[in-house]
Amino acid sequence: MAAPADTTDTRFSLPQSALPTAWFNVAPHLASPLDPPLHPGTREPVGPDDLAPLFAQELIGQEMSADPWIDIPGEVLDVLRLWRPTPLVRARRLEAALGTTARIYFKDESVSPAGSHKPNSAVPQAFYNAKEGITRLTTETGAGQWGTALSFAAAQYDLECAVYMVRKSFEQKPYRKVIMETWGGTVVPSPIDDPGHPGSLGAAISDAVRDAVGRDDTHYALGSVLNHVLLHQTVIGLEAQQQLASAGETRPDVVIAPCGGGSNLGGVALPFLPDPSVRLLAAEPASCPTLTQGRYEYDFGDTAGFTPLMNMYTLGHDFVPPGIHAGGLRYHGDSPIISKLVHEGRMEAVAHRQRAVFEANVLFARVEGKLPAPEAGHGIASVIQEAHDATAKNEERVILFNYCGHGLLDLAAYQEYLAGDLVDEP
Ligand SMILES: Cc1ncc(COP(=O)(O)O)c(C=O)c1O
Repeated sequence: MAAPADTTDTRFSLPQSALPTAWFNVAPHLASPLDPPLHPGTREPVGPDDLAPLFAQELIGQEMSADPWIDIPGEVLDVLRLWRPTPLVRARRLEAALGTTARIYFKDESVSPAGSHKPNSAVPQAFYNAKEGITRLTTETGAGQWGTALSFAAAQYDLECAVYMVRKSFEQKPYRKVIMETWGGTVVPSPIDDPGHPGSLGAAISDAVRDAVGRDDTHYALGSVLNHVLLHQTVIGLEAQQQLASAGETRPDVVIAPCGGGSNLGGVALPFLPDPSVRLLAAEPASCPTLTQGRYEYDFGDTAGFTPLMNMYTLGHDFVPPGIHAGGLRYHGDSPIISKLVHEGRMEAVAHRQRAVFEANVLFARVEGKLPAPEAGHGIASVIQEAHDATAKNEERVILFNYCGHGLLDLAAYQEYLAGDLVDEP
């Protein structure tokens, strides 16, 4: 493997002209086609007409597309250019702190308006809906990142945006609501009909879908799980490929990302799938261990059973995860694409407990300066394990991970950790 050209560079930026102009569709690269989603009533495969009350036609087309590349519309690129391409950073100070033989790189998605990777899909979803004459979007949000991203994206195309926020996060992070409202979104805690309930992503999806199906002017937008969401996120991995080359790397040996519904993981990892020498690794919470302990079977995407059934790893659609701080990872199911790759052994998965995640985050913040989202810490905890493993084997392992979001609105969680009050969930 080529060694990096320079010994001190830490930041590999791309000119804006290098922003990818097409998304990478993984469908033609899978070993076999994905199992179809099934209608919740008939249990027959769903067709485009079944999805039309919820999604824009272009998004339904992308969900089912077998085209290897899908052009990114100019109106979407115009908005993505506000923060893309994002930097690739060589985490030299983390490497030094770990004393590792590995070379560690991260893609910094925290520089987006919402502070995470989520606007990469929020922008095209809002664009296609506005183009079709839809004037209002509904959605769920766990960590608050997706609701923030969609509120921002909706504002770019003059759409209203109604966000159902998992009650536990709504209470943990009051300032997320303020950001969403600043962009014109409205935010209510979910489940709306059970004020004593901490909520879950599955329940918030039910609230948002119920709202959307009742109105002709409204569609629903999902922040993860679905094929078109992972597709939109592939700008992350496509940029990283160019940036690793400019850093003098032939390829990463392992690509790591936290996994809630699979969108940032898919975004960074899927463009590397065709190269069998690149390992792909999902990091999830031990308290919501979908990929490591779930069953691979058809299940609903939401709690109430409104959504199509998808073949995926699931803990059961009525599973209510403990109220850990990584709200974006509290999802019972997972992307069918990610699930299939794990099921077939092409992708690995590991689970981390909450305290270990914050330990990794605090180390990262102290040496690299950036304060990670609790979700991001799951990836960082895996990076540290990989780096130690490489060192033990005296390997020059090239590790790429997705720094999927900052934690500047998660300070209550840090406060708890620093005070010694953060407990490992049962
Ligand atoms: C910062 C951050 N990372 C990761 C996730 C998990 O989602 P996904 O698996 O779709 O990337 C979320 C979800 O809200 C998030 O906010």
